[in-house]
Amino acid sequence: MQQVNLGMIGGGTVGSGVFHALQLNGGLMASRIGVKVAVRKIAVKAFDEPRPYEIPRAVMTTDWQSVVHDPDIHLIAELVGGTTLARTMILTALQLGKPVITANKALLSAHGEQLFAAAKKYGTNLYYEASVCGGIPIIKSLREGFVGNRIHALYGIVNGTCNYILTRMKLEGAGFATVLADAQRQGYAETPPDLDVDGWDAQHKIGILASLAHGFWVRPREIHVEGIRPVSAMDIKFAGELGYTIKLLGIVKQIEGLRLTTDAATGPSARKSSSENRKCRVQVSVYPTLIPNAHVLAGVNHVFNAVFVRGDIVGDTLFYGRGAGKDATASAVLSDLADAALDLKFGTKHRVPPFVPHEGAGAVVPIEDVVSQYFVRLNVADRPGVLAKIAAIFGRSKIGISSVIQPEGHEGESVPLIFMLHYATNGAVMKALTRIAKLSVVKSEPVMIRVENFE
Ligand code: HSE
Repeated sequence: MQQVNLGMIGGGTVGSGVFHALQLNGGLMASRIGVKVAVRKIAVKAFDEPRPYEIPRAVMTTDWQSVVHDPDIHLIAELVGGTTLARTMILTALQLGKPVITANKALLSAHGEQLFAAAKKYGTNLYYEASVCGGIPIIKSLREGFVGNRIHALYGIVNGTCNYILTRMKLEGAGFATVLADAQRQGYAETPPDLDVDGWDAQHKIGILASLAHGFWVRPREIHVEGIRPVSAMDIKFAGELGYTIKLLGIVKQIEGLRLTTDAATGPSARKSSSENRKCRVQVSVYPTLIPNAHVLAGVNHVFNAVFVRGDIVGDTLFYGRGAGKDATASAVLSDLADAALDLKFGTKHRVPPFVPHEGAGAVVPIEDVVSQYFVRLNVADRPGVLAKIAAIFGRSKIGISSVIQPEGHEGESVPLIFMLHYATNGAVMKALTRIAKLSVVKSEPVMIRVENFE
């Protein structure tokens, strides 16, 4: 097969971006892989909907079924988003044995396992490079580039909207609401912004990356998520004075892994059940995080995304780029088009299966058991004995304090009091803060932001 015929569903921002990128670089791609990808049909919502790149009328249809069922079309790209009709579209194509490319993170996060199983059942494949971090080839890197590594940790700035807002809050000293409103006016943030600013978009992406890294499918409900709405200009300022930058960070961190060392393999633990030896416990979470200014992720600003991956063989690696937008996303779709076209050419449908479970006994660690360091900001009455009362609660909870700051220049009834806490479980810190919040000297809800030192 020297030409693969592509049918696209979706001719909006991403769809027209893919069409344009193929016009621009389709020839180059064909010369590199030895197969031409030809766009046969594009299903659109309406012929005259606004789109960043023009699509010739002759190639458009409003009937997605006619695209999927066209016998001359070998390969389908689903670029409409959503989790209901998009799911039907993908399943219909897979049932016909046609490989599918999707950029749909919400759908994969919710129904990934079912879609991968369908691809396998119908002897075809599902490709999804564009679903996580747009132009950054992180899916391919985890599945192929790091196939020989155990992934000890993965840290991702995976939501461009949140990173843009936090960057501007830091640079301008402005509050969340002001920057969000401006970002919406300029088209950097959606209206309503909930999917992004409340962390759900990052949850979808981090779940997919965690699943690939650890070989068991991580469900959205297992991922602890906190968005950036509670982060204030004051937190960003005090964090800065302490040498930290606040980022919305997706964290996938192995807590316990394969313990079967050479000694263990010959000693008594060799008799333990294989499932016990294979237990893999992983933190999977999304929350605003203080990261040291000196860390490379602290310099990832505005709409850019970055993923920091620590493998046992490779060590630390970093991926940086645009996580969204018509061209960055099109770049990822073209990468999948090339893979799918090569698989069709050589009949290698499962050369790289979409997802290979390899940690049967893997589990996500509940947030209460996750150990972190913490930044805590309280608003307290400015009187003698207040610090002692609060320190006593931390002490009784066996939580160590690494530093305390009461910034100068705050006058009035209440003043800020900042604690940096040593490693402790989230459960212990949350309980202690509930007790602290009840003290009459504490004048507003405590703010707690976790600290990540990448150790
Ligand atoms: N809205 C996302 C972001 C891009 O701001 O990064 C699409 O996932």
